[in-house]
Amino acid sequence: MQISYHGHSIVKVETNGYTILMDPFITGNSLTDLKVEEQKPDIILLTHGHNDHVGDTIEIAKQSGALVIAPNELAVYLSWQGIKTHPMHIGGAHQFDFGKVKFTQAFHGSSYVTDDQQIIYTGMPAGILLFVEGKTIYHAGDTALFSDMKLIGENHPIDVAFLPIGDNFTMGPEDAARAAQFLKPKEVVPIHYNTFPVIEQDPEEFAEMVSNTTVQVMKPGDKFDI
Ligand code: NI
Ligand code: MN
Repeated sequence: MQISYHGHSIVKVETNGYTILMDPFITGNSLTDLKVEEQKPDIILLTHGHNDHVGDTIEIAKQSGALVIAPNELAVYLSWQGIKTHPMHIGGAHQFDFGKVKFTQAFHGSSYVTDDQQIIYTGMPAGILLFVEGKTIYHAGDTALFSDMKLIGENHPIDVAFLPIGDNFTMGPEDAARAAQFLKPKEVVPIHYNTFPVIEQDPEEFAEMVSNTTVQVMKPGDKFDI
């Protein structure tokens, strides 16, 4: 399988003929290498309802017919926009054709802001465990550090963990380094930084703080195979 990073929290996984796109925030994302009109995912996975994660989901899902898997309240809202959805929630796992998805907790908020300044409640924010080809990928979404990350790592040995390091809205580098200790993944990729001035971070400094596992700093468009 091929995994690629595309700035902010966008992760793409290509496996068994399926393209899975996570948190496709493209419009307004100055760091991304992706173009909305070129995205043809089969599956979109969303961690929570914030606009820098839902991003261009509605347009992409309409053009590609992708199934959107999201926390229940967000999935319901998206289904009202004419999107094909599969609602899930924290603690729940489901086996799909492409692999298995499990939602984990995240300490954050979750709401969607519409163009006419309405705030839509979109349930609890989540992290996502994706099990494909015998590998386990963890996308933490937006979250603070929490000690149950130990439990997540113990119950589901993680091959690659995508962890936010931007601070202000999520874990900063120190807490994300502690998260890496708790999760014990084989590899960590820092995400959710440098998109906006308030979340500017040096990912190499984060890499130096992590001693228990490998940190792979990815530029938008970088990919690797596992
Ligand atoms: Ni958020
Ligand atoms: Mn965010």
